[in-house]
Amino acid sequence: MKTMTTREMQDLIIEEKKKRDICILAHAYQSHDIWEVADYIGDSYGLSKEAAKAPQKTILMCGVRFMAETCKILSPNKRVFLANPMAGCPMAMQMNREQALHLKKENPGLPLVAYINTTASLKTVCDVVVTSSSAVKIIQNMPEKEMLFVPDCNLGGWINEQVPDKKLHLIQGGCPTHMRMSANEVRIAKAQHPNALLLVHPECLKEVVDQADYVGSTTGIMKYAESSDAKEFIIGTESSIVEHLQFSCPEKRFYLLSKQCVCHNMKMTTLPDVLRAVEGKSPEEILLPDETIRDARKCIDRMIELGG
Ligand code: 13P
Ligand code: SF4
Repeated sequence: MKTMTTREMQDLIIEEKKKRDICILAHAYQSHDIWEVADYIGDSYGLSKEAAKAPQKTILMCGVRFMAETCKILSPNKRVFLANPMAGCPMAMQMNREQALHLKKENPGLPLVAYINTTASLKTVCDVVVTSSSAVKIIQNMPEKEMLFVPDCNLGGWINEQVPDKKLHLIQGGCPTHMRMSANEVRIAKAQHPNALLLVHPECLKEVVDQADYVGSTTGIMKYAESSDAKEFIIGTESSIVEHLQFSCPEKRFYLLSKQCVCHNMKMTTLPDVLRAVEGKSPEEILLPDETIRDARKCIDRMIELGG
């Protein structure tokens, strides 16, 4: 049996997606071979906005489950598929709807702000959702001074520092991938690459974020590195971003802050998964109850309204 090359498989995917009117959305952490067949690549905020305006009738999400759920909530009349049904964000499982309701009951009067890395069901009881690239602006634009924030305490702590006149009460977890990077690894990387700038995601621990030259979303980090005059960068986010930057800026040097920074869920989706999905074989269609779509949509619409 002849094994298909990456190029042959990509050509087939492009042909099939056109034939079947499928829009492929890829999160920035997807591998480069998937990027090349995607209609849109972005961070969580960009993907949400794109999902709402894509003209195709079917959306294929190459990313993790909460991203596909967000697409379905924003485009309920479209068919939405997750390219690899095993791909989920562990942080999104750190708090459920019942725990969120309990939290609201214990803190009457405080709005509940959730990171987008949460389930559709939890979003039904939230007041607003934020992403790493939109959080600061949204919190600034909220009329309330104090809010509850779930589940990422590292992102929440960073937002608190960026918007000192507001107070987020932080509850629960964080990203197991980004939390693996340490101040000691920053010290070692800076000693090895003294001229490099450190660019990190706000899901990193404070001890890492405090030493960064730039803190931002996945695409924020990429744009910063692409437009910077600097020639060397230490990248403190998922390893795929180093690969993408090597393609977009071959004249610059990129070093991964830590070998630990691999999101196994984001890495789960492969090019053959994408081919199977566009051929209509075995990917999971995202189906949500109408009330979940209706109620979860309110806090996502509010994110887009306040985030601009
Ligand atoms: P971005 O919104 O920066 O793409 O982050 C998503 C994510 O899961 C980061 O770990
Ligand atoms: Fe979730 Fe972290 Fe992976 Fe992002 S990098 S999908 S937050 S586990």
